[in-house]
Formats: sequence, C-alpha cells, structure tokens
Amino acid sequence: MAILLPGGAGYIGSHTAVELLNSGRDIVIIDNFANSKPEVLDKIRKITGKDFKFYEMDYANEKELEKVFSENKIEAVMNFAGYKAVGESVKEPIMYYQNNIGGCVAILKVMKKFGCKKFIFSSSATVYGDPKVIPITEECEIGGTTNPYGTTKLFIEQILKDVYASDNSMDICILRYFNPVGAHSSGLIGEEPQGIPNNLMPYIVRVAAGILPELSVFGNDYNTPDGTGVRDYIHVVDLAKGHVKALEKLDKENKGLYIYNLGTGTGYSVLDMVKAFESSTGKEVKYKIAPRRAGDIASCYADPKKAKEELGWVAEKNLEDMCKDSWNYIQNSQKM
Ligand code: UFG
Repeated sequence: MAILLPGGAGYIGSHTAVELLNSGRDIVIIDNFANSKPEVLDKIRKITGKDFKFYEMDYANEKELEKVFSENKIEAVMNFAGYKAVGESVKEPIMYYQNNIGGCVAILKVMKKFGCKKFIFSSSATVYGDPKVIPITEECEIGGTTNPYGTTKLFIEQILKDVYASDNSMDICILRYFNPVGAHSSGLIGEEPQGIPNNLMPYIVRVAAGILPELSVFGNDYNTPDGTGVRDYIHVVDLAKGHVKALEKLDKENKGLYIYNLGTGTGYSVLDMVKAFESSTGKEVKYKIAPRRAGDIASCYADPKKAKEELGWVAEKNLEDMCKDSWNYIQNSQKM
C-alpha cells in the first residue's frame, strides 16, 4: 500500500515525501515539474536511502491517473500539486481555477473509481481572509479571500465537504498551512521560487546572498507592535511531520472530515524576521520601507491547539532553525 503524492517534487511535497519514507511508508510521486526539478527526486532518495515510484505527468490527467491507480495500491492521496503564486493568480484566474480545482476534482474522481478513501489536502490560512479574531482557530469564519489562489483553496475545501457529505466512508483531512519557510537540514531540498520571489524568506536569503540588492518592507504603518506585517512562520519539516500525523489520524479514527491549522502559534513581524535572520546567520539584510502591498493583512497567526490535542503534533523548530536552514539551502543550491 502506498501514499500518492501529486506535486511530491515541490517544496512542501518533497519534505513530506522524506518524512513519509522515514516513517516507513511507501510513496508514489507524480509531478510535471511545473514548479520543481527532476533532481529533487534523487535528493529525496539520497536523504532517506529509500526508493519510490515516480510518474512524470499532469495531475489533472484522468487517464494517466487511472494508470497510476491501476499499477499501484494507493491507500491515500496527499495533494501538493497546484499553482501558488498570489500575484500570478490575479492576472491568470482561469489558469488557477482550472489547474487547482480541475486537478483536485480529477484526483477525487479517480479515487472514487478505485475505492481510495483517504485524502489529505494542502489548504492555507488564506481561507480565513482578514481574520476578525487572532490567534485563529479552526472555528473562525472562512471566506473573504483576496485573490483567486486563495479562492481556489476555499472552493476546494467546500468541494471536499460536499464529497464527504455524499460519502461518509471517505476520510478527509484539510490542513491549513500558515507561512512555510526553511529547508531540510541536509541542505539538499528547499524552496526554489522561479524568478524574483514574492514571499518574505526567499527574498531575505537572496538579499543576504547578494543576489538581490535590498528587501522592500511592505508597509510599517499596520496596527502591529512595530508597524510591519505579522505572520506565523513554520519550518517546512514541522509542516511535513504534520502530514504524517494527519495520516496516522486517518488510519486509526472513525471516518470523518477533519480540519487543522498547522502553525506555531507565534507571530513575527517582517522586521523580527530580518533581525532573526541577521543574528542567526551573521549576514546583513539591507532593507527599505516601501508602501503596503495590495491584499496584505496586518496580522495572521494560528491557534495550533487542535492539532496538538487531536494529532499529537506541535511545531518543534524555532526561528533560528528556520533562518539557518533557509540560508544553508541557498548556499548549497548555488554550489550545485
Ligand atoms: N513582505 C515584505 N516584503 C517582501 C515580501 C513580503 O515586506 O518582499 C511581507 C508581507 O507584506 C507580509 C509578510 O512579509 O507582511 C509575509 O509575506 P509573504 O508573501 O511571505 O506571505 P503571505 O503571508 O503574504 O502569504 C503566504 C503565502 C500564501 C498564503 C498565505 C496564507 O505566500 O500562499 O501566506 O496566509 F496564502
């Protein structure tokens, strides 16, 4: 029995592949390398000393998905595939709805055909929109997403609720990620955004490495302790371990649809991140204060209590680990 990982060569998928293999699971990865590289597969093998099957394909291709399901005994699917650039989603909404929603629906359709019942979905804190209450619990209102990327996450959550309502023998877990950062401690796998990064940590490491001249801090007039945006940064390895715990939950519990926040519960500002990066790595991060970025909110951090109580999961890595591992990865990847 294997776990199918569409998008398993990507940033979060590859780290989860490592944790699944390390916990003794068999996996099958499918990826079309839209935002990842084939070398990642060998790096997963190198880190774990374990092998797995791989199919280069589009996860929305039902015919090919059927082939994967008929050639392997798939007991669960963790869906990491999908586009994730907020700005691009505003410019190309149709592409986002088609790929993210179409791909997920194709998987669910083929799972149904083959009687596969367990599904773990990569959702996002973005489904909470501009949260009214912080820290955010899973009971907080969802909606009010500010871009098509976020709306695809919101819509897929609704699709999963409808699928579960129609078939209570399904076992579904929605994981709402906060802000994933960091990289595997081996320095072999990490985040590799194409072009100029949109997210804070990849931008910081590129400024520190001299690849980009300076960081623009988007706004210092928010209602936060230092005026800059506050987020819940979580180490990608902790996030990956959350998926293993979620799978264990689906293995032992009664059928259900479960929703968990995966965050640390602590919010850090943009300037906190700059300072933490400088003190963890000894590298300077030049920055300037710039206007607010459209669609950004002031503060967003999780109440991670439910995941602790029900999954036995807590984030273990601290901000220093996140900064050091991000830095280690970019140094390594430049050598490669
Ligand atoms: N920021 C800067 N300068 C930059 C980049 C970011 O100041 O160059 C600031 C932002 O304004 C924000 C914080 O850093 O205050 C974090 O920004 P990110 O772009 O790293 O992350 P977001 O919180 O905007 O978005 C992330 C993911 C989304 C996801 C969302 C969930 O990128 O995919 O978290 O809350 F939907």
